[in-house]
Amino acid sequence: MSTVLFENTLSVFETPEGGFALKPATIAIANGLIAAIDNIPTDFTPTRRINGAGKLLIPGLINSHTHIPMTILRNTADDLTFHDWLFGRILPLEEQLNPEDCYWSTQLGLMEMLRTGTTCFLDMYFHMDHIANAICDAGARAILSRGLMGGADDAAGEQRLREATEEIARCQNRPNLTFMLAPHAPYTCDPGYQREVAQTAKQLNVGIHTHISESRREVEDILAQYGKRPPALLEETGLLTPRTIAAHCVHLNEADIQILARTGTHVAHNPVSNLKLANGVAPIPALRAAGVNVTLGTDGAASNNTLNLFKDLSLATVVHKGTSGDPQAITATEGLQMVWSNAAHALNLPNIGKLAEGYAADLALIDLSHPNLQPTNDPLTALAYSTSGHEVELTMVAGKILYENGAFPTIDADRVRREVEATCRRIGLRDKT
Ligand code: NI
Repeated sequence: MSTVLFENTLSVFETPEGGFALKPATIAIANGLIAAIDNIPTDFTPTRRINGAGKLLIPGLINSHTHIPMTILRNTADDLTFHDWLFGRILPLEEQLNPEDCYWSTQLGLMEMLRTGTTCFLDMYFHMDHIANAICDAGARAILSRGLMGGADDAAGEQRLREATEEIARCQNRPNLTFMLAPHAPYTCDPGYQREVAQTAKQLNVGIHTHISESRREVEDILAQYGKRPPALLEETGLLTPRTIAAHCVHLNEADIQILARTGTHVAHNPVSNLKLANGVAPIPALRAAGVNVTLGTDGAASNNTLNLFKDLSLATVVHKGTSGDPQAITATEGLQMVWSNAAHALNLPNIGKLAEGYAADLALIDLSHPNLQPTNDPLTALAYSTSGHEVELTMVAGKILYENGAFPTIDADRVRREVEATCRRIGLRDKT
């Protein structure tokens, strides 16, 4: 097991009030954890010393909503309405993806996330075993959930739920993986099925990962079909709980916000995807004011079109200023809370998202010498407003370096590119001649 010492590195620490403070620190990493900060035991002998001059050490970012294998569908369905994007383009392409495709496209997604400082993510997709293999082979961390669609009396829906349960049982003891159940959305899961999934999540003691009120049309359709809006329907079927994380929540009224608040539901804000699919801007300041815990996600690479969480951090901390006229609508500090402590809380992983002794050594090291980060007047606000993500020079998960200066020590990057390209040819995304 490698041991690492970050020497005299400007580091981001959480203050007791939940804000952030910067100070130079020497940090010892051992057994996958942050073993000591500044008071380094005299017998600590690191296998690797990293000089922190000109660098900024941060907790790795946590991406609270994505579909990692969708990297394969990047730039294949652009400038379409949400409905045409999903039903006209994405679902027919996804039907052609096999488990191997999901393995390689997951590794591609991991490369992109590690390259841009993300160390943990919440995923929703199918072929979960193969996604788990791709993540474990790379040494990364994730919360996996198999996407579920169906009706209470529908054999395919029943089979998906059974498969999800079996996959969770099979993957239970794999390192750095935890699980949720993922009823896709109120328009793809009928109320009976929602109840069944809620019940199963309780039995398995896992959280729930879903999409709510992403498009205006979803809200209108659910209202027409069931006489209530999506949050009221999901509350009634038992899907809204303190262990539920709901992506999007763009089209909410005041009553919807109150439902999310009183059920303890966490909201994953996906500003890039919501804007690109022309769905709108989620009422994040109002959700926060009501006491809802808000996190940040990229959504899949077919709608973002990256898995670079810095892009969403930047947008989340500027878009609400513009729509509200309040420059403090979402501050840089609040944006950083969304990718660190708020996310760790929502994902039920209390030992990530913070540089503190005993926490998982999930970190990213940023090179502050890039012109866009100079001068270093305020490296904290720079994370939200000036960083592109490509200034990350090293990313570590559970004490292991998974990305450093262009290299991925645990991933065969050339093979990943070749395999993904071969799949694109097979599913008709290239001229076959
Ligand atoms: Ni999504």
